[in-house]
Amino acid sequence: MSDATTATYPVPAHTAARTICDTETYEAMYRRSLEDPDGFWREQIGIVDWIKTPGVMGNWSYAPVDIKWFEDGVLNACFNCVDRHLPARADQPAIVWEADDPDAASITLTYAELHAEVCRFANALKAMGVAKGDRVTIYLPMIPEAAVAMLACARIGAVHSVVFAGFSAEAVAGRIDDAKSDFIITADEGRRGGKTIPLKQTIDDAICHAWHEVKGVLVVRHTGADVPMTHARDSWWHDRRETVSADCPAEPMNAEDPLFILYTSGSTGKPKGVLHTTGGYLVWTTLTFKYVFDWRDEGALHWCTADVGWVTGHSYIVYGPLSNGASTLMFEGVPNYPAVDRFWAVIEKHRPATFYTAPTALRALMREGDAPVLKHDLSSLRLLGTVGEPINPEAWLWYHRVAGKERLPIVDTWWQTETGGILISPLPGAIPTKPGSATKPFFGIEPALVDADGKFIEGPASGNLVLKSSWPGQARTLYGDHQRFAETYFSAYKGLYFTGDGSRHDEDGYWWITGRVDDVLNVSGHRLGTAEVESALVGHPKVAEAAVVGYPHDIKGQGIYCYVTPIAGVEGDAALEAELKAEVRREIGPIATPDQIHFTPALPKTRSGKIMRRILRKIAENDFGSLGDTTTLADPSVVDSLIAGRKNR
Ligand code: WT7
Repeated sequence: MSDATTATYPVPAHTAARTICDTETYEAMYRRSLEDPDGFWREQIGIVDWIKTPGVMGNWSYAPVDIKWFEDGVLNACFNCVDRHLPARADQPAIVWEADDPDAASITLTYAELHAEVCRFANALKAMGVAKGDRVTIYLPMIPEAAVAMLACARIGAVHSVVFAGFSAEAVAGRIDDAKSDFIITADEGRRGGKTIPLKQTIDDAICHAWHEVKGVLVVRHTGADVPMTHARDSWWHDRRETVSADCPAEPMNAEDPLFILYTSGSTGKPKGVLHTTGGYLVWTTLTFKYVFDWRDEGALHWCTADVGWVTGHSYIVYGPLSNGASTLMFEGVPNYPAVDRFWAVIEKHRPATFYTAPTALRALMREGDAPVLKHDLSSLRLLGTVGEPINPEAWLWYHRVAGKERLPIVDTWWQTETGGILISPLPGAIPTKPGSATKPFFGIEPALVDADGKFIEGPASGNLVLKSSWPGQARTLYGDHQRFAETYFSAYKGLYFTGDGSRHDEDGYWWITGRVDDVLNVSGHRLGTAEVESALVGHPKVAEAAVVGYPHDIKGQGIYCYVTPIAGVEGDAALEAELKAEVRREIGPIATPDQIHFTPALPKTRSGKIMRRILRKIAENDFGSLGDTTTLADPSVVDSLIAGRKNR
């Protein structure tokens, strides 16, 4: 007999009864998607409306790296998310907004209202001088205008670059410079968990830091705070809104025209501007939303708790749901404000059919016990989802039992900023689930495992996760740096896309993603490069050297562990620790705040001066037994002093 964590959970009867895709259908479609990709995609592309239907499907190569899909197709992403639903859904809610403050009124925009707002916003952007191909940085809180701004850019062919509104002025400046963004959309302030966040102020600081000259800033009034406006550069959205028409044609875009840039952390260097294009991304998000959330033409409400500043928000708050004509819920707040039952209270209030959140949130809520969940009516839900990091079986089972009442399917969806949308996930009507496994690949996805030498590992095994073939939603390049794109993802294993993740493949063909195998951290579902945190630390005048690694953290998944060597004569004390934490927050933002700062007179290095991160990882994990070979270290005694320091923490 197997216990709950290793059991397989069958497709629930009510899901089987209504599903758009049962097991046989999944298997037949999956097989066909690999055997005849051209034929498969020719059948699927009708899921979006084309101005000119493409004749060419995939046209890609991983060596050299050149990825195109539907290259002779013409369409507009905004038209697909808004206009095409007007005949049937003009009065259906498109966006439902829940404020941070539970007593504040919620807002609903119907598809007709969304259409008018997006057209006005697009016309306001045009009036500011924004043209097709221009990059527009969006730094907004979770308010309907964030989705409106993204769709307005898509409507006129401008390329949005959304920056999470928790990033610091320096981080925003780096992204403005990299994207050479002439225009910024922001708000006076944001609200989260009862606090206000100074967004316009941060943008003013970012513009000072950036070398690129910003020509126009459009400011959304949200909290009503009094913020300074710079003459000729800044304007209010509500002022411009009065002067523009609610009619704006959707620009015909080539399928391979850029839709957006989204910055994400890598194992080295500065954040990378992942570039997604129009046709492939839209087909992918539309199709994955439909199949993974088992979406019939039902006009129901979908709730994804991510922020639009991350790819999850792009694909499963905005583009995927709206392209399918769903109603999408945007929540400004956090799970524990004003109390730890907020998520469940919002579900009772707005009655979504599907709920999609991160394991880190579930782990935090699980600690509060069952009562905050049980006091709310969750009967609207028919499906639960998770995203962003591996889910531990305990959290999966709690979600299943307490939120899902042991009757809702759970989709554990594995994907990345670079993949555009979900790649490995259960289809709820087709694939029995196992707690902690993302299960099976979506149509067209060919996962495989390789060892360190790049040899394929067959059968049930663990290894590095690669993808053998391209899919429409795949990122095309890193903005302005195609060589870095090729090196980052396609050089470790020639002819393959390397995900940076490790995975196990079990005897039933199920995939179990085990986490990053590179120097990327996943902290509360947010991706951070160790190099970025190190660079912030060594930027402090009292720091000589720093090395950052991840370590297991009960709630966050991974915590940030920093080994820091102060300059000669400086004491690593509590005051310096506080200064360093503040420095990292200033350079990156609160999400990068170190959990542990371990001062050490030296770091373990090889004789050639390379820091042995493997040892640092083990010590941070409190795993002193298997440090491996330390004889190549220039000074092996460093290790003993680090272990002693770790034990004292
Ligand atoms: C990394 C990508 C997926 C959108 C949000 C994060 C990890 C993501 C899962 C999952 C195990 C997961 C991977 C991946 N990850 N989903 N279901 N199970 N790990 O996007 O910031 O680009 O991060 O998140 O390590 O590589 P991202």
